[in-house]
Amino acid sequence: MIIAIDGPAAAGKGTLAKRLAIALNLPYLDTGLLYRATAKRVLEAGGDPTDVQAATAAARALSKADTSRADLRDAVTSKAASQVASIPAVREALLAFQREYGSANGAVLDGRDIGTVIFPHADVKLFVTASVEARAKRRQAEFIARGESVPLANVIADVAARDEADRTRAAAPLIPAEDAILIDTTTLNIEEAFLHAMQEIEKKLAASNS
Ligand code: CDP
Repeated sequence: MIIAIDGPAAAGKGTLAKRLAIALNLPYLDTGLLYRATAKRVLEAGGDPTDVQAATAAARALSKADTSRADLRDAVTSKAASQVASIPAVREALLAFQREYGSANGAVLDGRDIGTVIFPHADVKLFVTASVEARAKRRQAEFIARGESVPLANVIADVAARDEADRTRAAAPLIPAEDAILIDTTTLNIEEAFLHAMQEIEKKLAASNS
């Protein structure tokens, strides 16, 4: 079974995906880490994340150790991740890994193009959104938990800019699949979002089996 979860930055996809993966006994892949790790390799080599050759070489050379790093979630790496993610050859280099990961035993995957490009025939597609203010507040809370204090206005600006870049790029833009179930988590806490998503998944699976 493939559960595809897409949506804009800091919408709570990761938290939700992890909970769903445990409940459904499926492996979980955070595909954003692949783009973040690619960006980090380019930045650490002193390269430019918009440089097609440098970014593509970094994506092709990606290892498990790169994606397991604890320092992939800062603002600079987030912006650079979005930049490398707009390069078609980077996306191409990361595609096979994502498909193989999901095809082995099924999976919950979260990202931007899981339901549109990576697994267009996913059993269930969720598109998770929330207002930009709600998303930025959640991201700010994550920064604070890591000991970084960033003004909310800066987080809102970063999240909005990255969404705009992700939505308007030509390669695999952030867009709900036609058959995606929309989940707005603006007023939902983690538990409520999880219960709502589980209900939607059960409905969808029951409809597919009947
Ligand atoms: O955690 P957050 O939602 O802020 O971001 P992420 O899921 O870790 O993704 C970081 C960046 O990688 C995004 O802004 C996208 O540009 C890119 N990405 C993508 O293009 N396709 C994916 N499947 C996952 C992430």
